[in-house]
Amino acid sequence: MERNEFLKSLGLGVAMVCTGACFSACGKKSDSPEPSKPNGGGGVPSGTTASVDLGTQLLAVGSSVVVNSILFIRTAAGNATTSFAATQAICPHQGGALSFIQASNYIQCGLHSSRYSTSGSILAQPNDGGTTSALKVYPLTVSGNTLTATA
Ligand code: FES
Repeated sequence: MERNEFLKSLGLGVAMVCTGACFSACGKKSDSPEPSKPNGGGGVPSGTTASVDLGTQLLAVGSSVVVNSILFIRTAAGNATTSFAATQAICPHQGGALSFIQASNYIQCGLHSSRYSTSGSILAQPNDGGTTSALKVYPLTVSGNTLTATA
C-alpha cells in the first residue's frame, strides 16, 4: 500500500469513527426517566408560608380561602389549629384548581372532578380515566388572630 493510499484510508476510518460517535451522542435521549406524570404535582415549594387573618377570614365553619397556593378550610369552630385544614390548592393530577365544597364536605378539582377529604386522601379519581395522588397537607400554627401554614 502506498503512503497516499494508507493516509486516505486512515482518514476515512477516522471520519467513520467520528461520525458514528456523533450520531450515537446526538441520537441519544436523556438517561433520566420521563417525569412521573400525571401524579405528584401541585405542591408549593418547601418552606413556603401562607397566613390568614382569622379576624376577617374563615369566620364560618365550612369557609375556605386560597393564599400562596395553599387552600385553608375552617372545619370547626374556635381558633385552635385543629379547627382548620390546609392543603395544596392545585390538583396533583393535571393542575386544576381545587375548591372546598362545603355542602359535601370535600375538596374538588374544577378540571376533572377528582375529590379529596380535608385530610388529603382521595375520595374519587379524575373523570378522564387518569389517576391522581393524595393532597399534600400542611402543618398549621395559630398566633393571636393569625393562622399560618408552612409547606
Ligand atoms: S386536574 Fe384535577 S382531576 Fe384532573
